[in-house]
Amino acid sequence: MDCDVKDLGLAAKGRERIEWAGAEMGVLGLIRARLEKERPLEGVRVAACLHVTTETANLMEALEAGGAEVSLCASNPLSTQDDVAAALCEQSGVGTFAIKGEDNDTYYAHINAVLDRRPHITMDDGADLVSVLHRERKDQLAEVRGGTEETTTGVIRLRAMANDGALAYPIVSVNDADTKHLFDNRFGTGQSTVDAIMRATNLLLAGRVVVVCGFGMCGRGVASRMRGLGAQVVITEVLPLPALEAVMEGYRVMPMMEAARIGEVFVTVTGDTSILRREHIEVMKDGAVLANSGHFDVEIDKMALEAMSQSKRRIRDFVDEYRMPDGRRICLLGEGRLVNLAAAEGHPAAVMDMSFANQALSVEWIVKQGAALRPGVHSVPVEIDREVARLKLRALGVDIDVLTQEQEAYLTSWEHGT
Ligand SMILES: NC(=O)c1ccc[n+]([C@@H]2O[C@H](COP(=O)([O-])OP(=O)(O)OC[C@H]3O[C@@H](n4cnc5c(N)ncnc54)[C@H](O)[C@@H]3O)[C@@H](O)[C@H]2O)c1
Repeated sequence: MDCDVKDLGLAAKGRERIEWAGAEMGVLGLIRARLEKERPLEGVRVAACLHVTTETANLMEALEAGGAEVSLCASNPLSTQDDVAAALCEQSGVGTFAIKGEDNDTYYAHINAVLDRRPHITMDDGADLVSVLHRERKDQLAEVRGGTEETTTGVIRLRAMANDGALAYPIVSVNDADTKHLFDNRFGTGQSTVDAIMRATNLLLAGRVVVVCGFGMCGRGVASRMRGLGAQVVITEVLPLPALEAVMEGYRVMPMMEAARIGEVFVTVTGDTSILRREHIEVMKDGAVLANSGHFDVEIDKMALEAMSQSKRRIRDFVDEYRMPDGRRICLLGEGRLVNLAAAEGHPAAVMDMSFANQALSVEWIVKQGAALRPGVHSVPVEIDREVARLKLRALGVDIDVLTQEQEAYLTSWEHGT
């Protein structure tokens, strides 16, 4: 198998962890069983650029079971689980190119390695794969039938490409499915970000002032989990509506310049750039911890941190302590990259189950649509979104009520009034 992974000796451990995650992924399991029977992806080459985790391994193997030829690279240099990459490489047909901590050149060499396999379908998380394909490998674009995109930041980039008339093929925005962003972004990012901060620092969060920057789907999750642990949560926002919602949820809302002075732990989850900058770092307390859970490592100004500090040391795994000339210590987690994947294991499998069920069903849908699907960013069909919710409830053993005939008539009539 043509692969580039850290150590094949880790494969057995990776396989156990893949199985452990698979047990939590009931919906994907049901989809995999059907795909295995029907083989709708026979002969389809899928190139995926995703976080190489146990959950991703389950998705890759489900696509393979459906007949696809699958290759995989990382969507972030720090998010690969090397044991999972080894297991995929050694025990499945998934061509895997990913090493935790790979440098920028290797990261892009791995993206090119999966593109060398001339995919019909791209599966992206952050749109780096799509971007390389459109910028450097235009000759392959005509072979690509479609793609999927996993995250908010990727969808924003793809919409910008579509608006410029630059997007050459149809891409399904998996992130926009309700069964994705309402659960993965909120409960997944919420739990795993807090988990990563705790694993990296072992700080007591109860009573601590935690500043969550951005009150979108991810920010809501992080804020509510932090509050659940007893933290005093402060929100910063730029949009009035989410800011107002944060106020009504009982959080303190203030500009970053004020929050910077009182915060003890900072979490950026905006998908925007330069959220924590020099002027904020200048007024932070000694020992302030900075973590980012947004897609790219641009939310915390690492260059400013480097330039302002007198020295830097790795004091614990995933914790870089910067010493300022006035003696203050500022601690950056996971080099400012997605902390939940750098310092923990990413989202729990039970929530990735829904995201990846949407991925698998969207790939099948793109293949079935064929040329009918025009270039551009497409929503996940509502039937797929509903099916994922239905299957998840089934996997959880939860029954719900069914409308009676009287209720159906009532809800569709305009004649009933006071
Ligand atoms: N860590 C993970 O595993 C994970 C999972 C899902 C999404 N993401 C990423 O997290 C980021 C946020 O995703 P989301 O779904 O919550 O997006 P969202 O659009 O729902 O929310 C982002 C929020 O940030 C706010 N914001 C923008 N600029 C800001 C600024 N300068 N200061 C304060 N707030 C600002 C926006 O107004 C918005 O309310 C994206 O980059 C996304 O790709 C990460």
